[in-house]
Amino acid sequence: MKGLILAGGAGTRLRPLTYTGAKQLVPVANRPVLFYVVDNLVDAGITDIGVIISPETGGEIRSTLGDGSRFGAQFTFIPQDKPAGLAHAVATAEPFLRGSDFVMYLGDNLIGTPIREPVEAFRSSDEFAASVMLKEVTNPSSFGVAEVDAAGKVTRLVEKPKEPKSNLALVGIYLFRPSIFDAIAQIKPSPRGELEITDAISKVIELGGKVNFSRVTSWWLDTGKKDDLLLANDTVLDDWLKPAIDGDVDQASRISGRVRVAKGARIERSTIRGPVVIGEGAVVSHSRIGPFTAIGDRVSIVRSTVEHSVIMQDSAITDIARLEDSLIGKRVAVKPGASRHGALSLMVGDDCVIELSGD
Ligand code: G1P
Repeated sequence: MKGLILAGGAGTRLRPLTYTGAKQLVPVANRPVLFYVVDNLVDAGITDIGVIISPETGGEIRSTLGDGSRFGAQFTFIPQDKPAGLAHAVATAEPFLRGSDFVMYLGDNLIGTPIREPVEAFRSSDEFAASVMLKEVTNPSSFGVAEVDAAGKVTRLVEKPKEPKSNLALVGIYLFRPSIFDAIAQIKPSPRGELEITDAISKVIELGGKVNFSRVTSWWLDTGKKDDLLLANDTVLDDWLKPAIDGDVDQASRISGRVRVAKGARIERSTIRGPVVIGEGAVVSHSRIGPFTAIGDRVSIVRSTVEHSVIMQDSAITDIARLEDSLIGKRVAVKPGASRHGALSLMVGDDCVIELSGD
C-alpha cells in the first residue's frame, strides 16, 4: 500500500504566515504539521509516499522533507500545476500510484490517534472500494460531510453543504483502491471549479462500490487559523511532548512540568513552566515562559513573559511585560519603541492582526 500526501494549496486562512511559507510547514510544538502526517503513515507501515506539491511552495516542502530517510520512508514529489481540486491531485498522482491501494492524507491535518487500525482493516479485506475517516463536529458546513446508514456504510458525501444532513465531517484521511481513477474520470468540476474528492467517492458508490468509514474519537485539528493552531500546539504539547533538557540551564533558572530544551539553547535566570518546548540555539534570559508555549529555533526572549503562544524561528521578544495567546512568525522583533509619549511605532506586513492591551 502506498501513501499520497497532499501538500499544495494556498493556505489563505493562515495569512500572513502563509505568504512566506507552506501551510503544511507551520510548526506545532516546533515540528511542521507535515512531519506528524508522515509519522502516522510510517507507523501504519506505509513508507512509499508520494507528495503532491504546488509551484508556489513545492521547493520549500521538498527541502524540508528531504528524501524520506530520516522518517524511514521514501518520498516521490509530484508537482500539481494548478489547484484544481483534491480529485485532480489524485489523478495527477496516477503514474506514481500505479495500480496500488493507497492512503490519501491531507498535509495540514493533525489527529490524535494512529491510522494503523483502519489501514489494516482495509488491507485485509477487499469488501470496500474506499474508506473514509469521520469525526463528529459542531460546524459540519465547513467540511465535507458524510451521510451513513445503519449498516455502517457511507451513502453520500457532500462538500461543505449549506444544510448538512449529518454532523460527520471528513477529516482528510481517505483509503482508496485504483477504482477511484475510473470515478474521477466521470465527474465534472464543482461550482467552485474544482474536481472534488467527495464527488469522486459519491461516484464510486453510484457505480456499485461499497464505502465504509471509521470514526476518529480522539482530537482532530485542522490547523487552518490562529486559534486552531494555538489549540493544536496546546494539544500536542500536552499529549506528545517528551521532556528532555539537552541545552544549558543555569543554576538561577527554575524548570517545572514537562519541558524540552533543545541542544544549543540557553536558559539564564528564567522560569519555565511546562508544557513548553524551546528550540535549538534559542536564548531565554531574565524571562518567564509557559505554560503551553513553543519557542522556535534561535529565538531570543529577554526580560519578558510569554504564555500560551507560538514564537517561530529567529524572532526576538525583548522587554515585553506580558505576551499571551500570540502567534508570532519568523524573524519578527517585538520590543518597546524609543518614543517617550506613549506612541506606537509599527512596521507590520499584510493581513496581520495586532491586539493591544486595553489597560
Ligand atoms: C478539505 C476537504 C473537506 C475536508 C477538509 C478536512 O477541505 O475538501 O472535505 O472535510 O479538507 O480538513 P479544505 O480544508 O481544503 O477546505
